[in-house]
Amino acid sequence: MTGVTVLAPAKLNLYLGVGPLRVDGYHELCTVFTSLSLRDVVHADTAPTLQIRLTGSYAAGLVADGTNLAARAASLLAASAGVVPAVALTIDKQIPLAAGLAGGSADAAATLLACDQLWQLNTPTERLADLAAHLGSDVPFCLHGGVAVGTGRGETLRAVPGSRSFHWVLLPSSGQLATPAVYGELDRLRAVSATDDAASLAAVAGQVTAAVAGGDPWRLAAALHNDLAAAAVSLRPELAAPLAAGRAAGALAGIVCGSGPTCALLAADAEHAAQLAQALGTEFGHWPPPIVAASGGPGARLVDRQTVPRT
Ligand code: C5P
Repeated sequence: MTGVTVLAPAKLNLYLGVGPLRVDGYHELCTVFTSLSLRDVVHADTAPTLQIRLTGSYAAGLVADGTNLAARAASLLAASAGVVPAVALTIDKQIPLAAGLAGGSADAAATLLACDQLWQLNTPTERLADLAAHLGSDVPFCLHGGVAVGTGRGETLRAVPGSRSFHWVLLPSSGQLATPAVYGELDRLRAVSATDDAASLAAVAGQVTAAVAGGDPWRLAAALHNDLAAAAVSLRPELAAPLAAGRAAGALAGIVCGSGPTCALLAADAEHAAQLAQALGTEFGHWPPPIVAASGGPGARLVDRQTVPRT
């Protein structure tokens, strides 16, 4: 099999502090991102034109044309390098769609890497990061991976050295949430209750990064926070149930992933995560099955197609 294969890990926000709405329509953020072991796989092969094909658990419901963020990533890189976007992309979708896990951003980041390799461009890392930021606020982190503090609209990254791995159960929802709608709902809630606390954003991020470096899941549990959670639950009140059930089942903490609707439950270790997933899979039998994932691994990266690791 020819071509280039790249893993495209999902992300989780261990902390998401949302500041004021900016004039460009984005919100100023201070967030702590971490990569997850849950990932899509992007394969890029030579072709006369740009083609895209979707496979995997979450292929249905996603448009396979030039508007797909991965296709836009290939076109943007080609335009920036002055080459023809000649590539056949095959994306194995294992990350739930519009779920707060940055699946589309992960595919876009992986596509930048795959096409850069396929077309032998040797694009400098900083240039790839610029292109990633052009594609979306989460795409630079999906390239970067590990654990990082994101500021600006999320695209300005500072790595958190010495970060440790943690174990999670993800509870995907049967529905989706559009990111702009969730930010809009937060603005609406804040206009009503004046809860904007932007001044303390960086201070709380520091507590989270210290907990991540310390490797103690109980300490991390106490520090997890997402300003978008109230807005996600306001739009989808049924999300309160898995969070409460997770805590009742013994999760150390529960959090809405990004703009939701996926919820993430923090476990003490891998064995505890497996137990939680089993208990909650039975309780929420009508929801998509829980996904066990570890955090803190690398971002988008080239692999040998024969040795793509299991999620
Ligand atoms: O950057 P991205 O295209 O992923 O953002 C999608 C939408 O999410 C934006 O159009 C905006 O409505 C919202 N957003 C925001 N503030 C951010 C990031 C995203 O309001 N920092």
